Amino acid sequence: MSSGNSRTVETNQDGINDALDGLVNKYLHTKSLKPIQKHTQDAFDKMNEWLGAFDGDIIFDSCCGVGLSTQQLARRFSDARIIGIDKSDMRVGKHLHYSQDVDNKADNYLILRADVIDFWRLAVQAGMQLSRHFLLYPNPYPKKTQVQKRWHGSASFLDLHQLGGQLEVRSNWLLYLQECQFVLTKLKRESEISVVNDPQPLTMFEKKYQASGQDCYRLVTR
Ligand SMILES: C[S@@+](CC[C@H](N)C(=O)[O-])C[C@H]1O[C@@H](n2cnc3c(N)ncnc32)[C@H](O)[C@@H]1O
Repeated sequence: MSSGNSRTVETNQDGINDALDGLVNKYLHTKSLKPIQKHTQDAFDKMNEWLGAFDGDIIFDSCCGVGLSTQQLARRFSDARIIGIDKSDMRVGKHLHYSQDVDNKADNYLILRADVIDFWRLAVQAGMQLSRHFLLYPNPYPKKTQVQKRWHGSASFLDLHQLGGQLEVRSNWLLYLQECQFVLTKLKRESEISVVNDPQPLTMFEKKYQASGQDCYRLVTR
């Protein structure tokens, strides 16, 4: 992997977090009893209504922010249906503003305001299987003590795993992806990490990191 400027996230962690292995073992033997929030149930129902009888490829763009990536993915995978999900009302509400930058009037995508923790669980319960799943620039939570807040350090990662499909995670923090790879390997799923070199940024965060000269990385499952 080539590496230009690897200046990224400030962390007090110097390798894969020691707690990760134990955390995943624990999650494998626990079941979430947390009630589903109403707004996420409503969003899930809205997705099902929008999908109707569609039985082709379904792609999730989880934590999509303003949904720039969702729109670009809709153009790239024109036969699929793409669902962008983010919990921030403010970011989801800005989608139309940002989408004007993209010369694409695709109608094969939907952006929803929902919490992916509940949304993934509902999708697993409904037996959904994805063809691809994008998780682009999740919040890194770089302090050593914050490992459980990273997606691969949380119980929800098992729901994401069960949804299947090719997973792509992007981050400007290489260690985030190395930890994610560690957990995927534990779940018997192979992946590769490389440097992002797309001609056009896929998301607003990617645009910001690239503009400040930071490397961005991608993990893709095989
Ligand atoms: C660093 S931003 C990245 C946004 C976008 N993917 C990008 O690259 O521009 C992380 C996003 O994750 C969203 N997020 C964090 N936790 C979430 C959750 N539980 N459910 C849905 N979205 C969540 C935040 O609202 C935020 O928009």
